[in-house]
Amino acid sequence: MQLQTRFTELVGIDYPIVQGGMMWVGRAELAAAVSNAGGLGILTALTQPTPEDLRHEIDRCRRLTDKPFGVNLTILPSVKPPPYAEYRRVIIESGIRIVETAGHNPREHIGHFKEHGITVIHKCTAVRHALSAERLGVDAISIDGFECAGHPGEDDVPGLVLIPAAADKVSIPMIDSGGFGDGRGLVAALALGADGMNMGTRFIATKEAPVHDHVKQALVDASELDTRLIMRPLRNTERVLKNAAVERVLAKEKALGANIQFEDIVGDVAGAYPKIMKEGNMDAGPWSCGMVAGMIHDVPSVKELIDRIMREAHELITRRLPGFAAR
Ligand SMILES: Cc1cc2nc3c(=O)[nH]c(=O)nc-3n(C[C@H](O)[C@H](O)[C@H](O)COP(=O)(O)O)c2cc1C
Repeated sequence: MQLQTRFTELVGIDYPIVQGGMMWVGRAELAAAVSNAGGLGILTALTQPTPEDLRHEIDRCRRLTDKPFGVNLTILPSVKPPPYAEYRRVIIESGIRIVETAGHNPREHIGHFKEHGITVIHKCTAVRHALSAERLGVDAISIDGFECAGHPGEDDVPGLVLIPAAADKVSIPMIDSGGFGDGRGLVAALALGADGMNMGTRFIATKEAPVHDHVKQALVDASELDTRLIMRPLRNTERVLKNAAVERVLAKEKALGANIQFEDIVGDVAGAYPKIMKEGNMDAGPWSCGMVAGMIHDVPSVKELIDRIMREAHELITRRLPGFAAR
């Protein structure tokens, strides 16, 4: 089924489905599989230990796909910030045409990307941030509702309200993030005013996602009730799958209340990703996971997943919805 929107035309893809940047998951195998299946795959810059490693990963992705793919650059508060400007330089020098920025204000980076004709998608969690990114000159917005994996911000506005609220004000193409996992979500995203959807969690439970099988199984086993919000008192909220480490963090947050410092939980959260994603040690620490886990029941290939989403969307658009109007 053809489903062209302002977003697919902007980035040159077949289907309005994007795989958002994901620490430890957004590597060449997954990004290339998504792009080969007609969506937009995105490498996660900071998953690569150094900017030079990112250069090699971009080359590796190019060997796996000749379709458009992007690179995510996430700017988060950090005790020891990574060399963002160096990563940015490698992205530009490597000839990447699409960048997803996320996290704190991308002001410092946008001008550099735009100077080189790069299409910038900025991911954010509030209408006011979407509007300020639009003013900075980004080409598209990815708006992340409260359901999402990772950092939903501090306003707690779910997609059903956030997406139309943003669509009413944002003029550039916009895709929706958070809680999307099937054709129903895609059609809903379009109905709410977006030009496509972005998925994180759903893409982890695919054959090509370069993570341990325990992670994929945890997503199949999880229900929509199994995520937790940690680091709320630090105003750095993260939605994660519940596990023993998450319970420890939440107990500390409760005990220390407003006095909590990042140092109090650093031992429980730092360095967990490789242990989880590579070794499959599911209690090693918190890891980002969205409520959509409750809608994940299998581990298909990326192509099977995207084809299925497009079939479901087609069925909804051509049969179910017109059926209501025809009654
Ligand atoms: C394991 C994991 C790691 C993530 N890491 C990042 C990241 O480094 N940068 C980023 O912008 N978003 C990150 N995200 C968020 C996703 O790109 C996407 O916005 C989010 O997963 C959308 O919500 P969903 O999981 O409900 O689809 C991550 C998500 C997951 C599940």
